[in-house]
Amino acid sequence: MPGKQLIILAHGGAGSNNAHSDGTDRACKIGLELLQSQTPVLEAACYAVSILENDSRFNAGTGSRKRSDGSVRMDAACMDSGKRFGAVSAIQHIKNPIQVARAVANSEYRVLTGEDAHQYALELSFEKVDMTGLESEAPGTDTVGAVVFNGEYFAAALSTGGTGGSRPGRVGDVPLIGCGLYAGEHGAVCATGHGESITLNLTAYRTYEMLGRGIVPQEALESVLGWFEDSQDIGLLIVSKKGHAGGSNRSMAWSTLTGK
Ligand code: GLY
Repeated sequence: MPGKQLIILAHGGAGSNNAHSDGTDRACKIGLELLQSQTPVLEAACYAVSILENDSRFNAGTGSRKRSDGSVRMDAACMDSGKRFGAVSAIQHIKNPIQVARAVANSEYRVLTGEDAHQYALELSFEKVDMTGLESEAPGTDTVGAVVFNGEYFAAALSTGGTGGSRPGRVGDVPLIGCGLYAGEHGAVCATGHGESITLNLTAYRTYEMLGRGIVPQEALESVLGWFEDSQDIGLLIVSKKGHAGGSNRSMAWSTLTGK
């Protein structure tokens, strides 16, 4: 979109160290370069999230936390304002789950799960990684994400190693449409934090509805943070035609970058 205002925001998850914003800066830089070379918004958001999945300081990809049985299972999702949505849940041993979610978004399916999602990733030749013995460097952090706007379309992408120590079989907010993320004609939203609370609040979709009512992102952010108790970590990135905002009730590495 030459000449149009481009914007990308990326975060390293609720609870991530603010000092790790060099990682979210890098994700924004790559995402913005992709937007500048006419890459569609969904792909730009997903590639930005892949940068964060490859940074083991964050809880996604190789930084994923372990469940109570010591195993690692990851969730990822993406959505754009052109009505593409795709997600994977409980996938393992794949380096970039967000790229598998992107493939799902471009398929006839919306969510693939577990061993069958892993098999799908192998069929599409996505890079494998052995997560046995993995030690996460991100013990207290949550889902990573990005939102983008290219002046015409919006997209959001999320990836997570889930909640550390959780029971096998648990599903968090990330692969549930409207919970962890939502994108449509009014904007894009991605959430990070306590998955059960994010899901119960239908957080991303209700935030998106505020954008549809003309509420500016900073005001929407402040309102949504108020839905959560102090014990429930929550962070958000929001972009609309009226601006953008990011924040959390915990520390959170996050960045924003604009360009033409
Ligand atoms: N927010 C990620 C999860 O709870 O699984």
